[in-house]
Amino acid sequence: MSTHTPHPLDDPAADPFAIAADAAADIARLTGVESHDIALTLGSGWGRAAELIGETVASIPATEVTGFSKPALEGHAGTLRSVRTPGGKHVLVIGARTHYYEGHGVRRVVHSVRTAAATGARTMVLTNGAGGIRETWTPGQPVLISDHINLTADSPLEGATFIDLTDLYSSRLRDIARTVDPSLDEGVYCQFRGPHYETPAEVQMAKTIGGHLVGMSTALESIAARQAGMEVLGFSLVTNLAAGIQKTPLSHEEVIEAGREAEPVISSLLARVIGEL
Ligand code: HPA
Repeated sequence: MSTHTPHPLDDPAADPFAIAADAAADIARLTGVESHDIALTLGSGWGRAAELIGETVASIPATEVTGFSKPALEGHAGTLRSVRTPGGKHVLVIGARTHYYEGHGVRRVVHSVRTAAATGARTMVLTNGAGGIRETWTPGQPVLISDHINLTADSPLEGATFIDLTDLYSSRLRDIARTVDPSLDEGVYCQFRGPHYETPAEVQMAKTIGGHLVGMSTALESIAARQAGMEVLGFSLVTNLAAGIQKTPLSHEEVIEAGREAEPVISSLLARVIGEL
């Protein structure tokens, strides 16, 4: 007999929104913060933003919250933090992303977003590290996500749930971000399944169909955020130029290192943008 506890989201009969509501109740109990206004998912390179947004009211291991899985990757801190901005807003900072390539299904990928919505958050800020297709971009540069192309052939929506995705990456919120940094460029994010990086031919395909960034997260999360009625702001950190655009091979170390170097600058940008939301 297995001693392994089944994951609540793996039961096809389970209601993922009820599990998200349970997770939100766990967060309220463990942080002492009844509800949150904004949620922020931290991707590669964005980790230090939490400290700069405001005062950390509570920090909890994600594994203590219903439905959250252990982080698959070192460097993806498995914590949830409740931060209070100087303006008095409560920000739920999610340092525990489940990636699609982990193979646990989309319900687990979007659980943090659904939980954020269940805590009351009306704004979802999604950040990631991505490969840049535009040759004028340089590693370490933050870019606003203007739209996405979902190449996972999957969706967080189940059944005949038809959700409009027009202006998914809110132009209102992008305008606010540009009041903080008018030099912010923007681009279309293509989500591939990963975990392998793309081939140069796949990057050319992404470019041809209108993509400017390639990555392995965010699009599915964003769809779930829209379904939950949240307004979405997305940022990519260009950690490298995409395969074939840069002439040298890609490595995970390079991606992590670019994130580490850019971290102080982009974290401060992100914190200032959050202060304006
Ligand atoms: N491709 C996909 N995901 C990524 C990349 C990339 O080039 N860089 C960082 N994450």
